[in-house]
Amino acid sequence: MGLYQSLDRLGKLYRWKNINMKKKTIKNISNLKGKSIFLTADFNISLRNGQVVNDARIVETLPTIKYLIEKGARIIIASHLGRPTGYDPKLSLRPVAKRLSHLISKKVRLIDKFWDKKAFDKIKNVFSDEIVMLENIRFYKGEEENNREFAKHLASIADFFVNDAFGTAHRVHASTVGIAEFLPSFAGLLMSKEIEMLSVPLEKPKRPFLVIIGGAKTPEKIAVIEKLLDLADTVALGGAIANTFLAAWGFGMGRSLVDYEMVEMARVVFWKTTKKHSALILPQDVVISDKERKTRHKAIDYDKVPHNVAIYDIGPKTCNQYAELINEAKTIIWNGPMGLYEDARFTKGTDYILKCIAGAKALTIVGGGDTLTSIKTQSYLKKIDHISTGGGAMLTFLEKGTLPGIEVLQDA
Ligand code: 3PG
Ligand code: MG
Repeated sequence: MGLYQSLDRLGKLYRWKNINMKKKTIKNISNLKGKSIFLTADFNISLRNGQVVNDARIVETLPTIKYLIEKGARIIIASHLGRPTGYDPKLSLRPVAKRLSHLISKKVRLIDKFWDKKAFDKIKNVFSDEIVMLENIRFYKGEEENNREFAKHLASIADFFVNDAFGTAHRVHASTVGIAEFLPSFAGLLMSKEIEMLSVPLEKPKRPFLVIIGGAKTPEKIAVIEKLLDLADTVALGGAIANTFLAAWGFGMGRSLVDYEMVEMARVVFWKTTKKHSALILPQDVVISDKERKTRHKAIDYDKVPHNVAIYDIGPKTCNQYAELINEAKTIIWNGPMGLYEDARFTKGTDYILKCIAGAKALTIVGGGDTLTSIKTQSYLKKIDHISTGGGAMLTFLEKGTLPGIEVLQDA
């Protein structure tokens, strides 16, 4: 590593150290009895036919909800679900409210159009034996615009703002950032656990430090990858994001999912990597089938992908190589599946990586929002040191050492 890179890296570590990540939590609120809490949660979870598929994000928020109930607070929960453009009944939080109600054995009242006087009064006078959940906050454009009036209105229904939505804390929205201007703001217990666990690899990572990234949200992850190459020793890629990097290298990707708008940026990342001490690793082989996934799938080397097929998983050589990296590592962070895991024929790479990470001696952190926790092999998940409820949020936290939704909370 050259002098400039060393200085650059030192500067980054210094910046991370200077960020105050100690935030006041709900345990610092002295009297919660009868107080109204605006609790932002990340209940952005997968639904199938209107049913909750994976309730991990709800379950992880229960300690906060139960604590607030125990202390006699009145709770108003806000969350988004999916990425609606306007009102969309398919993205109603009703199934989520139902699942939460079942988990805490309490009535959860879903309230929509919450600026309407009638709804507003209902929220203001929420009974202490029930919980209010606001309908999908992204139905209203004030949320994503972080509209000040919208945020002020949200704040007017509560005494305190509690943010437990770690998975959404990288977004600057009204219910994650804007509202904090108008209310005393605290971290929920999940938020504070996430900050504590993810600070370990940031502050004192044991090396070798390996980061594995998969999934399809290439535009979001690409800048993070560049930053992670300063922090980690190795960044290994799988999933659609690896296709984009292979395309940037000049290999034909056939009909695979490639983010062509991001190819140029991937090239820049490659170029910058040559000047860093760390390594960016791409799959050696991939599993292919035709675009409709009708033909029998098979593994093939990364540079021999025919024009009429698409990549759906990492191949066995890549699995072995990544297994070796996992074995050697002392810190491992993983985000995003290695292939199209929704299709049972293409879960091998993801399952194998999970199995290896579960058996690793390293400190293991797995994130991926709602996706990786949907994996069937729950027994492996139990062996992971920390399963983050954040996907993009986890990566951005690692990149920046903080997030907008954390910054606005009161320092401890
Ligand atoms: C996630 O699942 O990544 C979070 O809930 C944030 O969702 P978003 O990417 O739609 O902002
Ligand atoms: Mg997600």
